[in-house]
Amino acid sequence: MGYEAHFRVWRGDAGAGELRDFRVEVNEGEVVLDVIHRLQATQCPDLAVRWNCKAGKCGSCSAEINGRPRLLCMTRMSVFAEDETVTVTPMRSFPVVRDLVTDVSFNYEKAREIPSFHPPTGTAPGEYRMRQVDVERSQEFRKCIECFLCQNTCHVIRDHDDNKRAFSGPRYLMRVAELEMHPLDSHGETGGDRRELAQAEHGLGFCNITKCCTEVCPEHIRITDNALIPLKERVVDRHYDPLFGLFRRRKD
Ligand code: SF4
Ligand code: SF4
Ligand code: FES
Repeated sequence: MGYEAHFRVWRGDAGAGELRDFRVEVNEGEVVLDVIHRLQATQCPDLAVRWNCKAGKCGSCSAEINGRPRLLCMTRMSVFAEDETVTVTPMRSFPVVRDLVTDVSFNYEKAREIPSFHPPTGTAPGEYRMRQVDVERSQEFRKCIECFLCQNTCHVIRDHDDNKRAFSGPRYLMRVAELEMHPLDSHGETGGDRRELAQAEHGLGFCNITKCCTEVCPEHIRITDNALIPLKERVVDRHYDPLFGLFRRRKD
């Protein structure tokens, strides 16, 4: 059975904005994105919202619902009481373009700073071999749909915009971890050092493993346990390795 819900939606642009109240029809089985689309169709045709797949796979419809970072298309209306106010606001960590649409270019800039996978030297494509456990580790990280909800949630940048220069956020530290743990990556052989990069360029030290990023990931990737903590352990291993310490002092 349908009912009328109370929606409070943020409307505005980079200059100014405010929460506006609406009564909108809700039908059985609908998600928040359906209701936002109905609002567009019936009351505010110029309401800006980004979406593509409506299936939790493109990562476009990220926003905050009642203060919690979520995908609009994967949040069922049935999780709210019929008399509950549903407040929809844009992601807080990124600049607003208009209404629910934010400028997420920070994430693409950080992605570009990560050296890509270096294929193994001396092995032809088709001859690469990996243990199943290493394949599965990469596959978990590759489920990422780049919704940036983890980036939006991480307090290091959510509460301190200035940290964005020095901290790439969980999604991209996870990418560095994936490559650092990849048994076939030969970046190190070409003089690169992903551990050093994680610490010095991507701000791994800012992460205090609160796991908030993991809690909001719609793909249920264990970002903190499987990527960030192992990466920190590798950096610490390197730091306390007496042979590496000796080598580094000689280089200095
Ligand atoms: S675990 Fe680290 S990256 Fe994730 S939210 Fe906490 S501080 Fe940010
Ligand atoms: S790791 Fe999860 S929360 Fe972060 S961008 Fe990827 S899918 Fe989204
Ligand atoms: S519209 Fe693609 S994830 Fe929501």
